[in-house]
Amino acid sequence: MTNHLHREGEAAWDIAPAVLKILEQEVTPGAVTLETGAGRSTLVFAKAGARHHCVTPSQDEVARIVAQAQREGVSLETVRFHLGFSQDVLPGLKTPPLDLALIDGGHGFPIPALDWQFIAPRLKVGGVLIIDDVDLWTGAMIVDFLRGERAWREEAILRGRSAVFRLIAPFTHHEWTKQPTVVAKSRWTQTKRKAINAFGMVLAGRIGEIGGRLAHERRLAEAAKKDY
Ligand SMILES: C[S@@+](CC[C@H](N)C(=O)[O-])C[C@H]1O[C@@H](n2cnc3c(N)ncnc32)[C@H](O)[C@@H]1O
Repeated sequence: MTNHLHREGEAAWDIAPAVLKILEQEVTPGAVTLETGAGRSTLVFAKAGARHHCVTPSQDEVARIVAQAQREGVSLETVRFHLGFSQDVLPGLKTPPLDLALIDGGHGFPIPALDWQFIAPRLKVGGVLIIDDVDLWTGAMIVDFLRGERAWREEAILRGRSAVFRLIAPFTHHEWTKQPTVVAKSRWTQTKRKAINAFGMVLAGRIGEIGGRLAHERRLAEAAKKDY
């Protein structure tokens, strides 16, 4: 029986059992893993013998995890706790390439996206990324984005809460014009802006300028297609 590991022992924000099961299946001894947030999942990474990096701002959580590991006879020898908020810790954290990562730390905007930004480029091709609480918009936006990307394969959405993706091609950053989800989600707002601007020009009696304006927009769009 696990004592409550969160909020000074008053809360158990444990990840779903289905995710713990995936961790048990996917994480082999010596695998390099990282999670934002800490708790029951940390014990499962430890039990699997992962070379695990855990980022949490809570010293109390760490103490409770250490005590729980002792009760369960789980060694934390291969676990390194990095105390701090992921947005502060991850940019300077050195890790070998990752076999698996779990994003389950701060859930407010833009923390899950920042976690993704600093974690995704470290994943090995074939590595697994789990994002928890994707019923929250801050997690859902990552799922939407990854679904449009050819480098990522969706493996599962567990009970609408936890998303499992695998990186199947080397990680690369693209400008928005080569990110299908961003293009699709921006189409309507961009069209609306252009239509409103054109309408304003008509009302202002500047109809002759509309053609030039559209050509300018087209040039901007072409330029944006080039990656840096
Ligand atoms: C949902 S709980 C994690 C549950 C854990 N995966 C488990 O299986 O028990 C969220 C965790 O995120 C931590 N947290 C909150 N804000 C954070 C941030 N900005 N960076 C890293 N961790 C954060 C909390 O201290 C807590 O450990």
